[in-house]
Amino acid sequence: MERTFVMVKPDGVKRGLIGSIVARFEHKGFKLIQAKLIEIDTPLAERHYSEHAAKPFFGELVEFITSGPSFAMVWEGPGAVQNARTLIGRTNPSDADAGTIRGDYALSVESNIVHGSDSVESAEREIKMFFEGQL
Ligand code: TYD
Ligand code: MG
Repeated sequence: MERTFVMVKPDGVKRGLIGSIVARFEHKGFKLIQAKLIEIDTPLAERHYSEHAAKPFFGELVEFITSGPSFAMVWEGPGAVQNARTLIGRTNPSDADAGTIRGDYALSVESNIVHGSDSVESAEREIKMFFEGQL
C-alpha cells in the first residue's frame, strides 16, 4: 500500500493546528503509520528542500522550517501521495480551494502550515530522511 510523508510546519504547530490536520487525514480514511514532533536542524532542512536550493526564497524557507518544532507523519492509503496533496491544497494558500487544509487555515505561501510529498519517490526519500535518519 502506498505511503506518503506529511508534516505540520512550525507555523501550524505554533497555532495549535496539529489535531485539526491529523483529523482531516483520519476522516479521509488514511492510516497513520508513524508520527513525531521534530526540531529540524539546518542540514536536514537544506537536504529536505534541496530541490529549491537555487530559488530566491531558499534562505527564508530554511529559516522558517527550523524556527520551531514540526510534526512529521507517515500516512498510508490508496494513492496516498496524490490524495494527500489534494487534501493539502495548492502551494499558495491564496490559490488553494476552500475545503483544503491550506485553503482553510493559511493565507501566505511562506507560512502554508503543511508539507506533503510530491511523488512516490519523494515520499520514500522523505520517510527515510525523517524517520530513519538517512541523509
Ligand atoms: P514547493 O515544493 O514548490 O511547494 P509544496 O510545498 O506545495 O510542495 O515549495 C516548497 C515550499 O517553499 C512551499 O511549501 C512554501 C515555500 N515557497 C515560498 O516560500 N515561496 C515560493 O514562491 C514558493 C513557490 C514556495
Ligand atoms: Mg514540494
